[in-house]
Amino acid sequence: MNLDTLFISLWKEYIKLTPQAKTIHELFQEQENHIITNDHIAFRTLSLKECNIDVLSKVFLDLNYERKEHYTFKEKKLSAYYFMHKNPTYPKIFISELQLLSFDKRIQNIFNEIIKNIPLNILKSSELIYSGKHWDISYKTYEDIYKISEYAAWFYVYGFCANHFTVYINDLKNFTNIKDVNTFIKKSGFKLNTSGGEIKGSAKELLEQSSTLAQVIPIKFKEGIYNIPSCYYEFAKRYKNKNNHLFQGFVIQSADKIFESTNQH
Ligand code: NI
Repeated sequence: MNLDTLFISLWKEYIKLTPQAKTIHELFQEQENHIITNDHIAFRTLSLKECNIDVLSKVFLDLNYERKEHYTFKEKKLSAYYFMHKNPTYPKIFISELQLLSFDKRIQNIFNEIIKNIPLNILKSSELIYSGKHWDISYKTYEDIYKISEYAAWFYVYGFCANHFTVYINDLKNFTNIKDVNTFIKKSGFKLNTSGGEIKGSAKELLEQSSTLAQVIPIKFKEGIYNIPSCYYEFAKRYKNKNNHLFQGFVIQSADKIFESTNQH
């Protein structure tokens, strides 16, 4: 697998869960008439040895990505790294993992059990990252988990897939600022995540981000069909620091609020 085919597979699975991203992508393409580039693609996983950040990032490290900065999100009990390719036109990869050992035994057991259902050949393959979930789900369990961690509940329902792609605003020609991007998205009929304000971060922090509210889609549970927020589309604009270097990292406060794009709404 090369990077281009990997990104195509990730996008295909992502837009199955998030048709709004395909629509928004097409709207940008109509406006821009060139390829819309991604700032980063983000993934969610668990701190278990079978599927932690080290396991999920292997496919990228094998394709010349390098591990960069580490972040922790104390309240949400998450840990994350971002990864960057030597060729900066490739999107950064942001992988977070739920610190399962910080949760009570009941929650740990739920995840220890579902992970056992992943076939060994998938666990060992580069396809794991877009293989979805490999277990049956119960709405009652989902609700129980949601009360404790929205992130954990989301993973329980969706498993392995891109949680979001991110339009890189710097490469757009007809939009110079994130405010205009947000106006365009809202005018097109999509709702933005307003947790922490529509725009997270600032030029001073060298990164501005916004995102749609995750698309709500019907999901089959043991008890029947329920509507659950899936994935969302993000928009990011980066700025240069005093030394004229474009900031490539992430801002913890902003990322913390972006995570909430998958909250129930
Ligand atoms: Ni993001």
